[in-house]
Amino acid sequence: MQRAQARIVPPPGSRRVPFGDLAREYAALRPQLDAAWQRVCARGWFVLGAEVEAFEQAFAAYCGARHGVGVASGTDALHLALRGLGIGAGDEVVTVAHTAGATVMAVLLTGATPVLVDIDPATGTIDPAAAAAAIGPRTRALLPVHLYGQPAALAALQALAARHGLALVEDCCQAHGARHGGRHVGTVGAAGCFSFYPSKNLGAYGDGGMVVTNDDALAERLRRLRQYGWRVRDESLDEGLNSRLDELQAAILRVKLGQLDAWQVRRVALAARYNAGLVSVPGLALPPAVPGTEPAWHLFVVRTARRDALRRALAADGVGTGVHYRLPAHRQAGYARAVVGPGGLAASERWAAEVLSLPLFPYLREDEVDWVIAAVRRAEETMG
Ligand SMILES: Cc1ncc(COP(=O)(O)O)c(C=O)c1O
Repeated sequence: MQRAQARIVPPPGSRRVPFGDLAREYAALRPQLDAAWQRVCARGWFVLGAEVEAFEQAFAAYCGARHGVGVASGTDALHLALRGLGIGAGDEVVTVAHTAGATVMAVLLTGATPVLVDIDPATGTIDPAAAAAAIGPRTRALLPVHLYGQPAALAALQALAARHGLALVEDCCQAHGARHGGRHVGTVGAAGCFSFYPSKNLGAYGDGGMVVTNDDALAERLRRLRQYGWRVRDESLDEGLNSRLDELQAAILRVKLGQLDAWQVRRVALAARYNAGLVSVPGLALPPAVPGTEPAWHLFVVRTARRDALRRALAADGVGTGVHYRLPAHRQAGYARAVVGPGGLAASERWAAEVLSLPLFPYLREDEVDWVIAAVRRAEETMG
């Protein structure tokens, strides 16, 4: 059996599967992408122009939202959406510790206090019961994260927000293309906040972000906040910042948006291949299957008590992996102003210790997925 397997797959360490490889995407789309940036350069207009407007409309339409407001990053999308909803010093925002730190940092930047609650250990997203227990007189918003592309429990959260008169702001930075109950994430709450960091499912060639919303007044306020608070040029109505999406990024993103659905189909297929190949590995928890949701499969995250040993074994076999995320927010000095909600963060701590992200991107090949699966199996057998 061992020998037969050795003939089928190359020997350990003999090839490399990258965690991500954006050069493959560029190679596939080069003519369209080159035409896009050249069009911008030839026009000579680089910040907030025709490309940004066209992309805002296209992405909002893709999500099923009335407005899209392009900003400089996902962090700014969250920060400005919260500020646009009037949230600031003295307010509390209920969110999770198990996320990209930027989620929590965006709350801190508004002056509000993040209240960190636990995730549902079955899904990895905010536990609505924990969120309910954390609501107090100062709570103004719920900020769920559709982590790894898995939509949070939006129906329960929407009901909770309505019951307490809270804003629901969705962190969709890892969830372009994900759906909950058939609706695109980002359109259930008051605002959906997206990142276009290069490695996202829809990524720019630099930083970028967007808030989508159906709230006309919020959209108007966001357009001021992203540009010095300007009502019209050189006349500020609000305390705004400079957080604009640029024309080169918007032009690149317009090309890539045209591929997003096809890439999503590909991500789903590759995730299914991983699931089929890894389902019987003892001690390895696979990503959740949550009824009524269509995840974006931004990351393929497995969990094991032997995460670090598995990661080392995979590295020795040439497989790039990631850990999202090693340190929950409450364990980092930069988030000292955040408070832990009632109930603690036991599931968040456990996930942080056990999560391991395997390579997953649209230009990953089937034989590479098979190589990763074989490497995981080999490592698990060796570790006993
Ligand atoms: C869940 C989540 N929230 C927020 C952010 C912040 O986005 P950005 O890096 O574009 O500021 C990211 C991406 O890094 C993220 O993954």
